[in-house]
Amino acid sequence: MEKKKIVVLPGDGIGPEIMTAGLKVLEAASNKFDFKYELDYQPFGGAGIDEAGDPLPEQTVIAAKAADAILLSAIGGPKWDDCPRRPEKGLLEIRSALGLFANIRPTTVEDIQIDRSPLKADRVQGTDFVIVRELTSGAYFGEPRSLADDKAIDTIFYSRAEIERIMKIGFDMAVKRSNHVTIVDKSNVLATSKLWRQIAEEVAQSYPTVTVDYRYVDAMAMAIIADPKQFDVVITPNLFGDILSDEAAEITGSIGQIPSVSAGSAGVNLYEPIHGSAPDIAGQGIANPISMIKTVAMMLDQSFDRSDMAQAIITAVNQVIEDQVVTADMGGEFGTAAVTDKIIEFI
Ligand code: NAI
Ligand code: MG
Repeated sequence: MEKKKIVVLPGDGIGPEIMTAGLKVLEAASNKFDFKYELDYQPFGGAGIDEAGDPLPEQTVIAAKAADAILLSAIGGPKWDDCPRRPEKGLLEIRSALGLFANIRPTTVEDIQIDRSPLKADRVQGTDFVIVRELTSGAYFGEPRSLADDKAIDTIFYSRAEIERIMKIGFDMAVKRSNHVTIVDKSNVLATSKLWRQIAEEVAQSYPTVTVDYRYVDAMAMAIIADPKQFDVVITPNLFGDILSDEAAEITGSIGQIPSVSAGSAGVNLYEPIHGSAPDIAGQGIANPISMIKTVAMMLDQSFDRSDMAQAIITAVNQVIEDQVVTADMGGEFGTAAVTDKIIEFI
């Protein structure tokens, strides 16, 4: 079997701590399931500035493009806030360098976590949906943009090709899940949203098993709080997705347990937890490793077609949650290493 090449970007703050945890779990699962891989560590973010003088060194881009998958933990921190090119700049640049146009974030509320959700248990129980956010166009990339003489301009731009490719990612995902898609837009007001909805209707024709439901973004913001259980796959433009995906993360109880993937045309995906580098708890050995461990599981499933390994990891994670062998952010009293070791034991 061919060895898979994984580029590892340990990043800053709690990044290296949870990356170590994720890679220990990867090693354990690989031994059990006979999966072969090699790791290629590269400087990135604050560590990129310290080691190679830039948040996204050239060597990192070259390695990332040649990889089968990329694992990133998190970057940034007060040490680099005054740098001319901050660590966060590297993150935006690697997404665009690799054409990562789809950001996919699961929102799953585990039964055992229900009392940590800000929502009432009966509302949130059984919630399990995925937000598919367009990541490299829309309001954050549109031209012209300007700010002068007390006038400011931003532009929302979408082309047919950009909308079609994100729709296909979302619909394909729905087929593998519960065959339901929610299209988010503001087509009662915005031209780009009219095109968004029109193309959604067209793409839907090719997916006869999938039921489709259309929501204006404002109504969607309400529905995520009022009845999150109804959603399966949610497809949204960049700006709306930025806002809705943070709203959705909040109802799961802890940000320290959510993975994500950014996927694109080049074929190499970038996998990362949704949170940042948590400088407030870095170096203390108390960061929740579950976000990174689930990120590893997501990579195995989606880039390497190893749903068996992914499932073994997720089952083990659910077991530690059930046994309350968890970190402080999830109401437990265990450290990063103890949680990781317990997950490995379950695997
Ligand atoms: P943050 O996500 O790092 O932290 C927010 C809160 O969540 C903190 O109280 C933190 O302790 C907690 N938290 C986050 N992950 C956790 C984990 N695994 N276990 C336990 N608790 C956890 O966001 P913040 O503080 O706004 O940003 C810190 C730095 O991270 C900044 O430099 C920011 O620019 C950067 N950042 C990087 C991102 C990335 O690499 N993708 C995303 C968001 C922020
Ligand atoms: Mg955001």
